[in-house]
Amino acid sequence: MNFQFNDSSITVAIVGCGGFVGSHLLDAILARTQWRVFGVDLDFYRIQHRLNDERCEFMVADLADRSVVERIAKYPVVVNLAAICTPSRYMAEAPEVIRSNYDHPASLADACAKSGSWLIHFSTSEVYGRTSADSGLLVEDETSLSFGPVKASRWSYATAKLLTERYIAGLKNLKWTVVRPFNFVGPYMDFMPGVDGSGIPRVLANFSSALVRGEPLKLVNGGVARRSFTSVFDAIDFMFALFEAGLAGNASGNTTFSQAFNVGNPDNEITIAELACKMRKIFAEIKGVSIDSIPEPELVSGVEYYGEGYDDSMRRLPSVEKAERLLGFRAKTPIDVVLRESLEWFVKHYGASS
Ligand code: UGA
Repeated sequence: MNFQFNDSSITVAIVGCGGFVGSHLLDAILARTQWRVFGVDLDFYRIQHRLNDERCEFMVADLADRSVVERIAKYPVVVNLAAICTPSRYMAEAPEVIRSNYDHPASLADACAKSGSWLIHFSTSEVYGRTSADSGLLVEDETSLSFGPVKASRWSYATAKLLTERYIAGLKNLKWTVVRPFNFVGPYMDFMPGVDGSGIPRVLANFSSALVRGEPLKLVNGGVARRSFTSVFDAIDFMFALFEAGLAGNASGNTTFSQAFNVGNPDNEITIAELACKMRKIFAEIKGVSIDSIPEPELVSGVEYYGEGYDDSMRRLPSVEKAERLLGFRAKTPIDVVLRESLEWFVKHYGASS
């Protein structure tokens, strides 16, 4: 273990500590290091088991509060995971989505630039925009970014995220790293509609909910869009590779800083229709029933399902060369393993709530 992980004087601030990725990051930091954690969120249900941990301090707050922002920026490492990142909200709540994904992170970046903290900001693979079906590898420092028209309000989120990246990159005194997640999946992802959330969660949670309820999976616009699904546990390993490299030296000349990294798994690329097919099969195996007893998927139009202004990226294939070259990291969990562990968790966690 790198000596930095044994350094109990380090406190990491995690904004969005109670969320899907934040809760896994918190568990991993407590298990793999001697660090302390200052966690900020509005909802702590995923991390109940940590609330009394003596190495943690938690605050119920968000970045709309200036005094909270100043407090967070006092810690040497700040990870910002807070965001509204559910596509079904990008159309109906565009102003809130933009505030949460631009105004708040920009003020945190200002505070970190002043205090000298290392800001690790979670952006999104959606900054690559309205990619076509024949778009190739998305490369952090090469691929052009282009969005749909303003009427297609789905892009409210991605434009706010991109503006934040540009803002961060423009701040002279900020020590920063941007992470672009490519469809992280795993236990505790999103919610089950009507049980612990409302609206439409992202595809893995939505398909899992439908399977548990015995309802048909909905394939938006034919299910031909492709995604590269990444295990959240691989994503956490990426964070440790990043911490290790970032804490290894000082800012000047450290290749970890002033970089955006794709974090994804190009080996796990599938269409959403193929995802539905795999999930039906795995679910039937988990339940010990015939696949014929699982309803066939149904086709729906995006606008009908999500509302006016919905649009989509047809392909999101990450180049992972940069993370491999600079951090020695590559995601390794195959799609079937990721889907099985996610679905097994979902069935166990929500099986009785359907
Ligand atoms: C979302 C967020 O907007 C991104 O910021 C985030 O980075 C990304 O998730 C992620 O998890 O990394 P997206 O991939 O479009 O982006 O989110 P999903 O809602 O999971 O949709 C994936 C695809 O499945 C889309 O083509 C969508 O139309 C389709 N879909 C979704 C269905 O066919 N059926 C469903 O029930 C849900």
